[in-house]
Amino acid sequence: MIEFILNNKIIKTDANESITLVDFIRDDKGLKGTKIVCREGDCAACSVLVGELDVSHNSVKYHTITSCISPLANAHGKHIVTIEGLNQNHILTPVQNSIKNNNATQCGFCTPGFVIAMTNYCLNPSLNSEEQMLDCIGGNICRCTGYVSLVKAAKDIISQTQNKGEKYQLQELISEGFIPEYFAGMALKLATIEPKIPNNHSSNIIAGGTDLYVQKADELLLRNHARFIHSESKSSVKIQNGKCILSANATVSDLFHNPELIRSIPELHDFLRLVSSEPIRNMAAIAGNFVNASPIADMSIFCLALDAELTLQSSKNSRKIRLKDFFLDYKKTALQKDEHISQIVFNIPNKSAYFNFEKISKRRNLDIATVNSAIYLEIKNDTVLKANIAIGGVAPIPMYLTKCSEFLINKEINLGTLKQLLEILNQEISPISDVRGTADYKKLLANQIIKQHFLKLFPDSIKFEEVL
Ligand SMILES: Cc1cc2nc3c(=O)[nH]c(=O)nc-3n(C[C@H](O)[C@H](O)[C@H](O)COP(=O)(O)OP(=O)(O)OC[C@H]3O[C@@H](n4cnc5c(N)ncnc54)[C@H](O)[C@@H]3O)c2cc1C
Ligand code: FES
Ligand code: FES
Repeated sequence: MIEFILNNKIIKTDANESITLVDFIRDDKGLKGTKIVCREGDCAACSVLVGELDVSHNSVKYHTITSCISPLANAHGKHIVTIEGLNQNHILTPVQNSIKNNNATQCGFCTPGFVIAMTNYCLNPSLNSEEQMLDCIGGNICRCTGYVSLVKAAKDIISQTQNKGEKYQLQELISEGFIPEYFAGMALKLATIEPKIPNNHSSNIIAGGTDLYVQKADELLLRNHARFIHSESKSSVKIQNGKCILSANATVSDLFHNPELIRSIPELHDFLRLVSSEPIRNMAAIAGNFVNASPIADMSIFCLALDAELTLQSSKNSRKIRLKDFFLDYKKTALQKDEHISQIVFNIPNKSAYFNFEKISKRRNLDIATVNSAIYLEIKNDTVLKANIAIGGVAPIPMYLTKCSEFLINKEINLGTLKQLLEILNQEISPISDVRGTADYKKLLANQIIKQHFLKLFPDSIKFEEVL
């Protein structure tokens, strides 16, 4: 039985857990305001708000997801808000008014998604800048009727909520008509829903579904006994004794919002903005990115450079494995049939560490990489003590560059070192030609991306003109 709150109604259903949330909303509940366009998570026409109980603050925290690739099971215990749940009295909300007044209405398919995404901005008092508002609508890909009008509407909404900060509480949003009255009692209602009992016997894991529902949505409908780890417990990112510890269902957004990690990796937001879009990051598990094992998986490359260690749990045992030993061949990993990833751990970069992530794709945002790479270096007295370099798109697996990483130990950072490193790189990688580019092109990109790490991290030692 799946239990959640859809707008202001309690839902208890024994419908197939694997159907997508959008199909349940539209077909079972007849709420047709949530649209379906791509069914691949790319356009955000199907966006809904998801509220999760924050027990420590006795409140509900909202984010957006694309409901076309999210299994119904993942709604368990949550508050799901569709466009119909926002303006129940047929009066436009301030968000809808801003869109209307700034001529920012898109077509009937795309507008509801924008309203949901912009309302999400208003529901999160910690969001208070244009950049954060643009993050919120970053996944809503169609702007047929104009970018400028949408940005104007966005600014209009920001001006109505600005400077209210953390004090801008639910009651104010309700009294100003951003959301209906029923939002007020939601924390109490969600607290009465029992969490799902983990189905530990199933190795058939579905996390966010952002890979699975794009690759084989129809097949998932026929599977029995899947394990939906997002609905079992709240995901977590903990920092303890200099280590970052991720739960099995921790998402890219969980990393994005972790203040201690941001302190340790100040450019974290810039790096993670290159990974999919906000609604996808809200669903996408880091473990899912590893197990999908795409050769250009961004979080795999990111965590390879951080030398992450995984705990693989079976019904009887648990074992630890380094991420660099996890990828065996194209889409083949060290995960055994009855195992799942139960934890991911990496050391957070310390003060003497340098970390950088780069991604080259045809489009800057919301695109998969042609080549991506991350580097982690620890340096003392101008000498490299520790080095991890990872690169994607040049091998059948997300690749840890063993030879390059070993070469850098005890070296000084200068042009000579970089030139030798590139020679080793060209021996270590063997890209193939495919739809993302020819082998030669990818080799060129691999060289450029490594140079870019050094230009960015060591502008005093390596000059742009020298590496051209
Ligand atoms: C629009 C869109 C844009 C995207 N953009 C990017 C991008 O920019 N960069 C990028 O790298 N990826 C991108 N992706 C791919 C995807 O979002 C990521 O790979 C994501 O991290 C997968 O996680 P998930 O929770 O959705 O996995 P799921 O789809 O639920 O699962 C993927 C695989 O992992 C397995 N699995 C999940 N969790 C566990 C676990 N704990 N133990 C064992 N097995 C597990 C599942 O069984 C399945 O085989 C994009 C996807 C979409 C739809
Ligand atoms: S329909 Fe396009 S993201 Fe869901
Ligand atoms: S298709 Fe809807 S606005 Fe572009």
